[in-house]
Amino acid sequence: MRTPIIAGNWKMHKTVGEATEMVRKLDELVADSPVEVVICAPFTSLASLSALGLNKVKLGAQNMYFAEQGAFTGEISAAMLEDVGCEYVILGHSERREIFKEDDELINKKVLKALETGLKPILCVGETLEQRKAGETENVVVEQTTKGLAGVGAEQIRQVVIAYEPIWAIGTGETSDGNDANQVIASIRQTVAKLFSPELAQEVRIQYGGSVKPGNIKEFMDQPEIDGALVGGASLKVEDFVGIINY
Ligand code: PGA
Repeated sequence: MRTPIIAGNWKMHKTVGEATEMVRKLDELVADSPVEVVICAPFTSLASLSALGLNKVKLGAQNMYFAEQGAFTGEISAAMLEDVGCEYVILGHSERREIFKEDDELINKKVLKALETGLKPILCVGETLEQRKAGETENVVVEQTTKGLAGVGAEQIRQVVIAYEPIWAIGTGETSDGNDANQVIASIRQTVAKLFSPELAQEVRIQYGGSVKPGNIKEFMDQPEIDGALVGGASLKVEDFVGIINY
């Protein structure tokens, strides 16, 4: 049985004070949930969130750079994230791919460095609306998954979470329907099975993301292939995010 994992991707939201106030509440409200709960906060809040001594909620970052250290102005290393108490790091989010021009090769280097450092990557894949309309969804996610996981060892793949986020569903209020997302996620799992083994593929958790809300989470969690959600907008308010976690 795969433990469901619901992660909040706060993107560029919340000051340290706002972040600590919400996560302190969240940690109490979801204390007894069987779901693994992660908050991926901006870098600036991570150390303060870690200092809260959380019981339930785990911490993640939203990006990192693959180099160990050095002259990379504005970047953050995997070891720095580990040092401030991160367990997870979102890599290859569509906003990183589109706005900051990250490609599969760069994302793969980040995935490998995260794993080497002991961080669990949440590798994001997903198609654009044009790709969907052209019937390319499966090809796109298979290619992103294959390239993103290149060089990952069989002993490391269990640490990886994959998030299927159709780009047209992010922040738009549009969602994929549960069945459709389930099918795409099944093809991602088949890709993992080919790259590693069918047994290992059964252990890898694959989330759905894109306009997940308290009112639609169940539709996704009811699907056999969907193991959780990566939640943007609805993770910013404690009552909404708790509603999602208590699906
Ligand atoms: P959304 O964002 O829930 O606001 O659509 C999801 C994401 O980008 O991870």
